[in-house]
This record gives sequence, structure tokens and C-alpha cells, in this order.
Amino acid sequence: MENITRDPLNPFPWYDLMRKNRPVFYDERNGIWHVFRYTDVKKVLSDHSSFSSSEGRVESSSNPIGSSIISTDPPRHTRLRSLVSKAFTPKRVQEMAPRIREIAEELAQKIADNDECDLVEDYSGPLPVIVIAELLGIPPGDRKKFKKWSEALVSGTSEGMDDTSTEYFDPQTAMAGYFREVIEMKRKNPGNDLISSLLEAELDGEKLSEFDLLGFCVLLLVAGNETTTNLITNALLTLSGNPEEYGKILNDRTLIPAMIEEVLRFRSPVQSMFRTCIRDTELGGFTIHNGEPVLAWIGSANHDDEEFTESEKFIMERSPNRHIAFGEGVHFCLGAPLARLEAKIAMETLLEKAGRVTVRKDAKLEPLGGVIVFGVQHLPVKTEK
Ligand code: HEM
Repeated sequence: MENITRDPLNPFPWYDLMRKNRPVFYDERNGIWHVFRYTDVKKVLSDHSSFSSSEGRVESSSNPIGSSIISTDPPRHTRLRSLVSKAFTPKRVQEMAPRIREIAEELAQKIADNDECDLVEDYSGPLPVIVIAELLGIPPGDRKKFKKWSEALVSGTSEGMDDTSTEYFDPQTAMAGYFREVIEMKRKNPGNDLISSLLEAELDGEKLSEFDLLGFCVLLLVAGNETTTNLITNALLTLSGNPEEYGKILNDRTLIPAMIEEVLRFRSPVQSMFRTCIRDTELGGFTIHNGEPVLAWIGSANHDDEEFTESEKFIMERSPNRHIAFGEGVHFCLGAPLARLEAKIAMETLLEKAGRVTVRKDAKLEPLGGVIVFGVQHLPVKTEK
């Protein structure tokens, strides 16, 4: 087998090689199984009786995410998901559309007024933070803190999931302390926001505990910010490299939702998710043993030729497009409708205000760290009005 390593800016040749030669691969250096094919990745993500989301997680008050919905299995997961779904509804997301457009317009104006800027710093970074802060009912003055915390959390967890490192705990502790105060405030003075609705949500006479509520709030910031930022950034990066497709979008904005689905497949903002095997399981001719960690490569599954014809080509009109960028099974992304809405409005508004925005020729792209999130730290762009 050729010796290719994973290039964090372009991991797709490595995925291709692994799908063909070692679709289920045990890395003896760190004792982790890697899974690359579409059907196998779907199985790992959805078969919670074999591959657990909760095993090996640290449950403590300084680690609310370690005990939040994303780190649980049924039946606890089923109960939590039903409760939070009562508050985080598609209607609530849809109601945010006009406000998302307002925020996007304000940010896009800055891009239109300057010939050159950094799309991440000026547009795709701030937009999701402002939206989530407003959704939760957080005072605008605190947004910068969130961005910092969520960035610290993502970089802390992505490097081999070292849950015991101080980088992982410190921002969580800080966020948890802050949210405790906000929750107390909302308990006394409920508003028309997600935290107030979560405080009210009830299932069979039971409510979310304060700890569960805290975990969910912190998770939303972490799961929702960096991912949506990368979706918008990856969309612009991909269009920039495909000028013909870009031209089609500029002529016909109704293609934007399909373009976003193809970006989700082609440059998936979340490239991988971890599970722990909880009973000996056959996968691709190998036995994964109880207790062994498994990394399911979503980014590779979304480039599998067995599922997607011409998988290395960016085809906006691709149909069907059964990508698994938002996961599969019971943990399917709860924020998918919000992410899709934000990305759609962000792209519509950007093109409307600033015209054809492209990556600068001299741009030196630096990947984000780790194996989970996929994007670049900065995206220097110029406008062609
Ligand atoms: C493009 C943007 C996004 C991508 C690619 C993405 C991707 C994912 C993926 C792959 C999962 C499944 C994790 C697993 O199986 O372990 C997930 C779960 C989740 N996502 Fe997202 N996400 C995005 C945006 C958001 C947003 C905007 C929010 C909320 C504001 C959000 C909230 C969540 C939550 C709460 C879960 C856990 C659901 C559960 O465990 O039942 N995500 N996301």
C-alpha cells in the first residue's frame, strides 16, 4: 500500500486509500479502530447497542459535556432528547430567520465595504455565535467570551479526545459557572428564549435537572458554533475553487440549499466521531472488542464511491445526496435545521451584498487542529463587484 498520511487540508486521498485497502483499520500505536466506508460508518454511528457514546466519558460537575445528551446512550439519551426537543423546536428555529438575516446583513456590509477581509474573522465566525447567544437569551456583551470558550473546548477535545487535560476542563468550568447565573436569572424572570423554555419543558411530570440543562447549554455553544462557521467557510472555499458552479449560484440563488447539501458532503464540517465498542462486534471482517475505541470517519463515508457517483466531484445538483454530515441514528444533529437555515441566509446575504467573493490567490491556508472539525483558521477573501 502507498504510504500517504492524512493531510489536514486535504484528507481525501488518504480516505480513498484507506477505503480501498484498510476500510476497518486498527492503529496499534494508539489502540484506536478507524472505520472508513459509508455503510460501516453508518453502523458505528447508529448501532448504540454495540458502539456507545457514553463509555469512557468523565461525568463530573467540571465536565458538563461529558454527561450531556451527546455523551449518553438510550434509555437516558431518549429521555433527554425528548425533553430538549420540546424547547428546541423547528418553529423556534424558523422564527429566528428574520433576525439571522439582519445579523448577516450587518456583517456582510463590512465585507462589501472592504476589498479584502478574512471571511472567518468577519463573517462566518461571528454569525453563529451571535445567533446562538440570542437563541439562548444571553446578553450581547458576553458573546466574545463564548467564542473564546468554545474555541478552547473544540481544540482541547479534538486532539485524541484527551478528556483529562486542563484545556478541556477550564473553559467548561468557566462556562458552567456563567450559565448557572444565567439559569438562575431566567428562573426568576423567564423570557421568550431557549433557556426559559428548557426550564419549563416537562416529560411525565419530570423536568431537566440543572446539571442536564447546563450540559445542554454548553454543548450547544460547542456543537453549534465552530461547525456552522466551517460550513459557511467551506462553502465559500469550495465555490471559489469551482468557478463554473459559482457562476450558476450567482445567476440562480434558488440553488443555494442544494449547494449547501453538497458542501456538507464534499467538505464535511465534522469529519469524524468517536464511539467505544461495548460488545465484541464484527465489522468488515474484523472483530472489534469490548472496550476498544472507534473513530468513524464521516468525511470519508461522504466520499465513498459505493454511495456517491463521481464522489470526488463537487456536483450541486447531486440527487440523491444521502450524506451523513449530521450523523446517523439517535444522535442525528439536533441543530441541523438551524445550521441549514444559517448557512442559506449567510450565503444569500453575502452574494447579495458583496457579489462574487473569492479566496485571495496569495492566501496561505492553515487547517484547524485535530481530527473532528474540518476547516481553516482564516480565509482571506476579496470582492469582485
Ligand atoms: C454544519 C453544522 C453542524 C454539523 C456538521 C453538525 C454535526 C453533528 C453531528 C455529526 C452530530 C452527531 C454526533 C454523534 O453521532 O455523536 C451532531 C449532534 C448534535 N448537534 Fe450538530 N452539527 C452542526 C450544527 C449544530 C448546531 C447549529 C447545533 C445547535 C445549535 C447543533 C447541536 C447538536 C446537538 C445538541 C447534538 C447532539 C444530539 C444528540 O446527541 O442527540 N449542531 N451534530
